[in-house]
Amino acid sequence: MTSQRRGVLIVFEGLDRSGKSTQAKRLADFLNSQNEGSAVLQAFPERSEPFGQVIDRYLRREIDLSERALHLAFSANRWEKEQMIRDKIEQGIDVICDRYCYSGVAYSLAKGLDENWVRQSDIGLPRPDVVLFFEVSPEVARQRGGFGEERLETETIQQKVAKKMEELRADNWKSVNADGSYDDVELAVRKIYSEIDRTAPLTSLEK
Ligand code: TYD
Ligand code: MG
Repeated sequence: MTSQRRGVLIVFEGLDRSGKSTQAKRLADFLNSQNEGSAVLQAFPERSEPFGQVIDRYLRREIDLSERALHLAFSANRWEKEQMIRDKIEQGIDVICDRYCYSGVAYSLAKGLDENWVRQSDIGLPRPDVVLFFEVSPEVARQRGGFGEERLETETIQQKVAKKMEELRADNWKSVNADGSYDDVELAVRKIYSEIDRTAPLTSLEK
C-alpha cells in the first residue's frame, strides 16, 4: 500500500489549429523537466494501435467506413489505452491527452448521429479531472495556416464540430483563450494544472 498522490487526467480539446497539440506537448515537457517521468502525453487517435491503424487508413482515404463504424473505431481506440491510463494514474503519473471522447462525440454529432447512441461507447472510460477547452477565433485560426489533406479537415465540418463541442461543456471544463502567444497560453495552462484537486479518486464517464 503506497500513500503517494495519484496522477491526474488532463484532456486538451478544441478545433484543429487551436494550438492544443503544441500546448499538450509543452505541458508534458514542462512536467517532465521538473520531474523526469512524471507525465505522459497520449494523442487520440493513437494511430499505432490496431483500431488506430484502421482510423489512420480511413483518414488518409485508403478505406471507407460507415459513420457508425468509424465512431466505434475512435472509441475502441480509447479503450485500447484505458488500462495504460489507469495504471499511470495509479502510479502517480499524469496523463495528458490530446483529444479524447469529446472529439469523438462532437465529430459524430456534427455528422448527425444520435446523441444517446454516440455517448454509449465511451461510458466507463476514466473521466478527466479537467478538460482544457481551446477557444480560438476564426481570424487567428485562419492565420495559422490551411487545413490539412485528411478527411474531416474542412471548414464546414470544423464549424459544426465547434458548435457541438460548446454544448458538451461541463463542470470539469476550463476555457483557454487560445488567441494569445504560445508562451501566454502555456502559462495559462500551467495555472489551470496547478489548481487541479487530486485528493478525490479518479472517476469514470457516466451516462
Ligand atoms: P487529429 O488530432 O487531427 O490527429 P493528428 O494530430 O494525428 O492529425 O485527429 C484526426 C481527426 O480525427 C480529426 O479530424 C478529429 C477526428 N476525431 C474524431 O472524429 N473522433 C475522435 O474520437 C477523435 C479522437 C478524433
Ligand atoms: Mg490532424
